[in-house]
Amino acid sequence: MTASRGEFSSRFGFLMAASGSAVGLGNIWGFPTNAASNGGAAFLFTYLVLAFALAYPALMAELIIGRHAKSNSIKALQSISRGPKTRALAVAVGALGIVTVSFILSFYAIVSGWMMAFFLDPLARLFGASELASWLTRDTSWRNAIFMALFMALTIHIIRAGVKNGIERWASRLMPMLILILLLLIFYVLTLPGAMDGVHAYLVPDFSQLANPSLVVDAMGQAFFSLSLGVGTMLIYGSYISKGENLPVTGSLVALLDIGIAVIAGMLILPAMYVALANGVEIFNADGGLVAGPALIVSVLPELFGDMGAAGVFVALAFFLLMTIASLTSSISMLEVPVAYAVESGNMSRGRAALLIGAIVTCVSLVIVLNFDPLFDFVVTYATEVSQPLLGFFFCIFVAWIWRRDAVLKEISQGCPNAESGLFWKIWPLYVKFICPMAILLVFLQ
Ligand code: TRP
Repeated sequence: MTASRGEFSSRFGFLMAASGSAVGLGNIWGFPTNAASNGGAAFLFTYLVLAFALAYPALMAELIIGRHAKSNSIKALQSISRGPKTRALAVAVGALGIVTVSFILSFYAIVSGWMMAFFLDPLARLFGASELASWLTRDTSWRNAIFMALFMALTIHIIRAGVKNGIERWASRLMPMLILILLLLIFYVLTLPGAMDGVHAYLVPDFSQLANPSLVVDAMGQAFFSLSLGVGTMLIYGSYISKGENLPVTGSLVALLDIGIAVIAGMLILPAMYVALANGVEIFNADGGLVAGPALIVSVLPELFGDMGAAGVFVALAFFLLMTIASLTSSISMLEVPVAYAVESGNMSRGRAALLIGAIVTCVSLVIVLNFDPLFDFVVTYATEVSQPLLGFFFCIFVAWIWRRDAVLKEISQGCPNAESGLFWKIWPLYVKFICPMAILLVFLQ
């Protein structure tokens, strides 16, 4: 093993890094709009059940494999394999994870670039540069390419600095800021007329939706994306946790933070939409559902901020700063997966690996920007709805069916000496062995 392998310096540092990975556009944007279009609290309820019952066990599988192997995903899966066939499977799963996460980063960077452009828009208006402001908010390939590249440059810059000085340092600065901005925005938006209708739409369950099969599929996809599962992100972060750390506790804190921030973000997005409605902004689409997706973030909300007068400038700044921070702490966790592989198995220096792989992802991203309509949805769907659940399935198979049970227990017991008699060890092995893979498969086949 390379002597220079990084490690998080504290539990706080790991928590900020891992929850930074988990908390992203998926929480602040994806979760609230998914909830709104799937029966409000009925979705929330389903999501909570799935997140704790399926996503948390899968998260633990990755963290445990990672900390055990202390290496990149391919090597880690190989190290728990037991024969040539499973070793070959390990290479396939690890490699598909690396490719998948690179594609996820390539579309994530485009959307994150929009967030940066919309962050600069109120500043440009504040300084009277109205032409610049309108360029920033117009959907052109040039703008998308430039801001995507800027965002990638930031991501590369942080990853070059390493685990402690890059990932941990920036996550520890940015995550507390994110939580503070989120809470301030919620308090402000809740005081505005119309906000309570949004709270109502969010929290009053429409249980008739529970019969809707797409609800469960959406909730599960949301939970897997949100906890960054299946592609080796959490595995690689797990590989930087010290052996003295109590994994079941730390992992559950990450899940709690992620789920908590998604639920809290709903208290911002939905009330904000209904405030917009009260201001005459259209928030329903042609089929009567709430506007979701890009239209919500880059049209409904900016229109609302525009109507708020002077306060709107600050609210817009805060909101898009929030989105940019959430994106950045997630994108670094994506780039770290291929970079860790190149450093450990390709003998590259971290600086070169980050630059080279970052450049490749930027090129792929550029191809998507220039062929947005045919490619964007295709890449998103393929990566998050096909590849990610499939890989999640195989991670469960590895940890529960291939890895030796006593070795798993031994790994968990480090930092958690009474693991064998604890609740976690009574429930979790059964979950990852039977319930998680079956549920993933069921939802996948839908
Ligand atoms: N979880 C992040 C979000 O909610 C995105 C993310 C980071 C991710 N790393 C990932 C998604 C790996 C899938 C796979 O926005």
